Amino acid sequence: MPRTALPRPAAIASAEYRARRRALMAALPAHSAVLIAAASLVTRNRDSEYIFRQDSDFHYLSGFPEPDALLVLLPGRDAGEVVLFCQEKDPSQEVWTGVRIGAAAAVADYGVDEAYENASRDVLLPELLEGRETLYLPLDNGEMLALAESLRAELAPQARRGERTPRAFADVAPLIHERRLIKSEAELDLMRHAARISAQAHRRAMQNVSPGLLEYQLQAELEHEFVWHGARAPAYATIVGGGENACVLHYIENSAPLRDGDLVLIDAGGEFDLYAGDITRTFPVNGRFTPAQRELYEVVLEAQCRAVAAVTPDTTLRAIHDGVVRDLTAGLIRLGLLEGSLEERIADDSYRRFFLHATSHWLGLDVHDVGTYRLDGEPRVLAPGMVLTVEPGLYIPDAEDIPEAYRGIGIRIEDDVAVTATGHDVLTADAPKEVAEIEALMHDR
Ligand code: GLY
Ligand code: MN
Ligand code: MN
Repeated sequence: MPRTALPRPAAIASAEYRARRRALMAALPAHSAVLIAAASLVTRNRDSEYIFRQDSDFHYLSGFPEPDALLVLLPGRDAGEVVLFCQEKDPSQEVWTGVRIGAAAAVADYGVDEAYENASRDVLLPELLEGRETLYLPLDNGEMLALAESLRAELAPQARRGERTPRAFADVAPLIHERRLIKSEAELDLMRHAARISAQAHRRAMQNVSPGLLEYQLQAELEHEFVWHGARAPAYATIVGGGENACVLHYIENSAPLRDGDLVLIDAGGEFDLYAGDITRTFPVNGRFTPAQRELYEVVLEAQCRAVAAVTPDTTLRAIHDGVVRDLTAGLIRLGLLEGSLEERIADDSYRRFFLHATSHWLGLDVHDVGTYRLDGEPRVLAPGMVLTVEPGLYIPDAEDIPEAYRGIGIRIEDDVAVTATGHDVLTADAPKEVAEIEALMHDR
C-alpha cells in the first residue's frame, strides 16, 4: 500500500515576517539601522558545495531562502523601511543552479519595500545609511564588521560637514534572540511537525534494528524517514551508539556493529522548514531489556517523566535540572552505584561521574537555540511559547568498582516540550519511551 505523507503545516506567512521586523525596529533608538546577511554557500570539495542552510537570524526576519543576500532595516524611512539586496537574475547561472528569485519577486513575494541586485549594493548602501548613527549588526561576524567599517569610512566626510553618519556599532543578535525564544503558533506548528517526523524516524529504527546491523545502517533508517517526510536534513549529526558507544556524548562515527544483548542510544532529529526536532531514545538491540539495563533505564525514565511533568510557566530550567539530579542520584544509590546519603552525594557532585550534561536547552531554528538562560543573574522563569528539551541520561563507566552488569551502559531519553499557558505540550510524544511500549513495538514487526 503506498504510504501517505503527514499533513504539512502552513508555511510562515509574509505578514508574520513583517511583524517580526516591525517589532525589532520598534526596539531600536532613533537614527539606527540594521544589517543582517544571509548565509553563504560553503565549498565541500572543488566545484561541489555543502547543501545550503540559511542563517537562522536572517531567516527569522526575512524568510528569504537564498545565499548572498543582505537585509537592511531603516526604521522611520519614508520611502520604505525594509530593503533587500539579493543575487542578480542570470540565465547563464540559473541553468546550472536553478531559478533565482531576483529583486522584483523579492518585493512581490517577501514583503520587503525595495529590493536591488547585489551589483548595485556598493553605490546604494552608503546612500541608504545617510542620517543613521548606530548600525546594528551581528558583532561576531567578521565580514559584517568589515562592511560596517568600510561604510563608516566612506560616510566619514559627511560627518565633517556636521551630518549624522554611522559612528557606533551595536550587537543586533540579543534583540533578535530574545524574540526567537518565544515561538508563535505558526512556529509551534512547524516544530510539532519536525517532532512528529523525528518521532516516526525513531519508531522506524526500533522496528528495523537487529544484532549484526552496523550503526550507520540504523542511521540510514532514521534519515530515510526524515527525507521521506520532507525534513530534508538532520537538524544535527545523527548519533547512533551501540553498547559503550552510548557513553560518548557526541559519538557520530556510527560505524560499529550492533551487538546482541547491548542497548543502542539514538539521538536524532529532522529539520523541517529550518525548525529542529531533537529526540533521544535508548532501546535493546534484540528487543528485550536485560534486568540490569531495565533497572538503569527505569531510573532515567522516571527522572525524565518527572522533569517533563515539571515544565510549567512558573518554574526554571535550573529547578528542573535540580529535580533530575535528585532523582538520578537517588536511583544511583538505590542500585548501589553510589553510597551514602542523598544529600551528601548531591552536595559532593559525585553523581557527575554518571551524568555530566545539562538537562535542557532551548530548541527552535537552531538545535541549541538562542535566548539567554539567565536574566539579571538569575535562572530565567519559563514562559508560554518557549520550547525546550528534557534529556537526562546515565553513562556508566566500564570500571572495576562498578557491578559488572551495569558496566558500559549509556542511557539518555530526550523529548521536546513546549511551555503553554497552563503547563506544557510534549511535541515528541509519538516516540515510545516506556519499556513495555518499546518492547511491544519491537516485537510487533
Ligand atoms: N542532539 C543534541 C542535543 O541533544 O543536545
Ligand atoms: Mn538536545
Ligand atoms: Mn539530542
